[in-house]
Amino acid sequence: MRAVPPPVWNQGIEPKNMSSAACHQVRTLFLNETGERYSDITVRHLPIPNWEGNLILTDSTPNAESHIIGLLWATPFKDDIVRVAAFVIHSEQQGKGLGAEAWNRFVDAALKEGYKQVQLEVKASNIRAQRFYERRGMTVRKHLEGYYQSGMGYMMRGPLLHYS
Ligand SMILES: CC(C)(COP(=O)(O)OP(=O)(O)OC[C@H]1O[C@@H](n2cnc3c(N)ncnc32)[C@H](O)[C@@H]1OP(=O)(O)O)[C@@H](O)C(=O)NCCC(=O)NCCS
Repeated sequence: MRAVPPPVWNQGIEPKNMSSAACHQVRTLFLNETGERYSDITVRHLPIPNWEGNLILTDSTPNAESHIIGLLWATPFKDDIVRVAAFVIHSEQQGKGLGAEAWNRFVDAALKEGYKQVQLEVKASNIRAQRFYERRGMTVRKHLEGYYQSGMGYMMRGPLLHYS
């Protein structure tokens, strides 16, 4: 039996140019892994440029259509700050170092573009993700009421750090 190759991160296209099938896969991923319900329009309106901070994880089963099983979507925010608008990996692929790999690739790209800081929003209940970001130098800067339907959120920010 042929071994299934591991999933790979590749640069993605701008959300506004994604096929309906790809958009549907992204919405399903958000819903299953974060509980957040997005419409096609919301996904397509995310202002993620074509760059190395737009990373898509796809499975690569031979002879089958590939599926989006993770993404890291970052976008210019203001001054020297880049914002991670979405970061999610299919539950079956979590905890294998794929998130860390995407993060470092994004950090390298953002530093090369001249950014110095990274900012994002995270659910207050999502302790695992907060620890991930804290280990990478970020801290909670603001409490966000009403940002998530399901409860409180935090805005986290920190220097862009390559972490290993
Ligand atoms: C947050 C997320 C993107 C991280 O990606 P990942 O591939 O699971 O992360 P990794 O395998 O690279 O592991 C990252 C760290 O978590 C640790 N870890 C792995 N599995 C873990 C588990 N089950 N529980 C707690 N920590 C775990 C690893 O030791 C690793 O440590 P490090 O930070 O020192 O490198 C991913 O877990 C995810 O999609 N979660 C659901 C959606 C989400 O919460 N997104 C963030 C929204 S702001």
